[in-house]
Amino acid sequence: MKAALSLQHVKTPIFGLFALLGIGALQAQPNFSEHIAPIVYNKCTSCHRPGEIGPMPFTSYAEVSAWAGMIDVVTQSGYMPPWPPSAQYSNLVGERILSAAEKQLIHDWVIAGAPQGDPNLEPALPIFPTGSVLGTPDLVLSMAEAYPVSGNNQDEYRVFVLPTGLTQEREIKAIEFRAGNRSVVHHALIVSEHVGAGQALDAGSPGYGFPAFGGFGIPQNQIDEFHTAWAPGAVAEFFPASTGQVLKANSDLLVQIHYAPSPVAATDSSYVNVFFADQPIQREVNNFEYAYTNLFLPANQVTTVKRFFTVPQNYSLIGILPHAHLIGTRWEMYYKTPQGDTVRVIEIPDWDFNWQGIYKPEFMQKIPAGSIFYAECTYDNTANNPYNPNNPPQNMSWGENTSDEMFYFILQLLPYQAGDENIALGNSLSTNSYRPSPDKLLKVFPNPASDRLEVQLALAEPHEVEWRIIDLSGRRLRSGNHSGVSGVQTFRVDVRGLAQGAYVLELAVDGRSLTSNFLVE
Ligand code: HEC
Repeated sequence: MKAALSLQHVKTPIFGLFALLGIGALQAQPNFSEHIAPIVYNKCTSCHRPGEIGPMPFTSYAEVSAWAGMIDVVTQSGYMPPWPPSAQYSNLVGERILSAAEKQLIHDWVIAGAPQGDPNLEPALPIFPTGSVLGTPDLVLSMAEAYPVSGNNQDEYRVFVLPTGLTQEREIKAIEFRAGNRSVVHHALIVSEHVGAGQALDAGSPGYGFPAFGGFGIPQNQIDEFHTAWAPGAVAEFFPASTGQVLKANSDLLVQIHYAPSPVAATDSSYVNVFFADQPIQREVNNFEYAYTNLFLPANQVTTVKRFFTVPQNYSLIGILPHAHLIGTRWEMYYKTPQGDTVRVIEIPDWDFNWQGIYKPEFMQKIPAGSIFYAECTYDNTANNPYNPNNPPQNMSWGENTSDEMFYFILQLLPYQAGDENIALGNSLSTNSYRPSPDKLLKVFPNPASDRLEVQLALAEPHEVEWRIIDLSGRRLRSGNHSGVSGVQTFRVDVRGLAQGAYVLELAVDGRSLTSNFLVE
């Protein structure tokens, strides 16, 4: 009897909720203002707007509808938005993916002739950050001169040397790459060294900077530290609280920039923001580099290289950078624990040299001592591979040139501490453009609730959190504050006295809003 009763109670609110989410309108045709704009503005416009790398802007109905057919094709195939790792394999910070429902909405809209709907219902464009997404940097290192990118439709890979001017060693909590001309900068990799090797190469090469394709042109053992990788859409993050990296005295940053093919001449002045640690760091981020320099890939063969090693102590994994060149087609990494569990780290099913990045697990990932870590990469060195730099195919081995290959990865590790598993790595709350789906950041239970809601929230950095409960007509009924520390935390919201029905819990964190729907029974 009781079950039947509560079913009755929930029915009406659930319909209300669907109407609120715009799902009720699905029986009718999807339209731009209500259904497509929220998807495109949140998942495409960060790159597809003037001055960014997306070749056409998507900032209005007219601009988006002009490309409707092509948008259907590239979203169905998964080509757009670009996100190389498999979201089925593991969950990583900042995933850019469309759900099956979103793809279907786009498809139905295009089939219906891309109707606009009521322009008054179109959401505003998100506010895209200009300047740093992290705050005010302690040190800004700019390119000494603007670099001229020729309009010859060719890829170009160039290393620029940015002296830090540091007279003593400094601990840092973030290094942020800021692309100057975002319509040509396709990716950037940043390392530091303090022996002047980069400056010597620059001096010996005409023009500002020097060319280098798959590395930095200097011997691996002269590189002090790998700092970060950037690709369009990447959002800089602080290292987790009380962890960080070291910049040596007199060190130079070497910034390798890939300029995408451009039909017109352009110039680029990119820069790097450095953030010093506020307090002495307790755990230094350890870059574990794996370079399989005996790599040999016979011509006219598909070869899978599989390597493994034993993990000597308990570590927490906080970053992964897989790296291969043009004929790499697939990466996979996982580990087997001494207890016999297999834990997935990352899969890149369709390796693309043009979309490299450093990936972070959603939460620090414990790798227990004694685990066997496996990494495998497949290379297609046949004439069927359109990216093969050699025609006809040639034997390939380890090297930095386009016609060489690499089996190389970096794992960013911290010595494990109890509780690390609960520390969220996405600081994506500091930007509007990319954030993990809210259900991963925010959980609300029990649902339906009767006297209280437990609100579970994952924060990478401490933040003051404001919460409010609003009803379906948007009236604010209750509000309060929570002083958020970093990590996963739970706080309570009293819902006694609220009428039965559907409500929205809205959290404002650092000026951004997260919402979750719930029912009161
Ligand atoms: C992270 C940046 C980024 C995001 C996000 C992004 N794009 Fe793109 N898009 C690009 C770039 C760069 C290109 C040019 C092709 C390339 O380099 O792969 C492109 C090309 C395209 C093209 C032209 C394809 C062609 O073959 O001519 C379409 C259409 C497109 N994007 C649609 C979308 C849609 C729809 C979304 C959102 C669902 C989206 N893009 C999200 C960067 C992005």
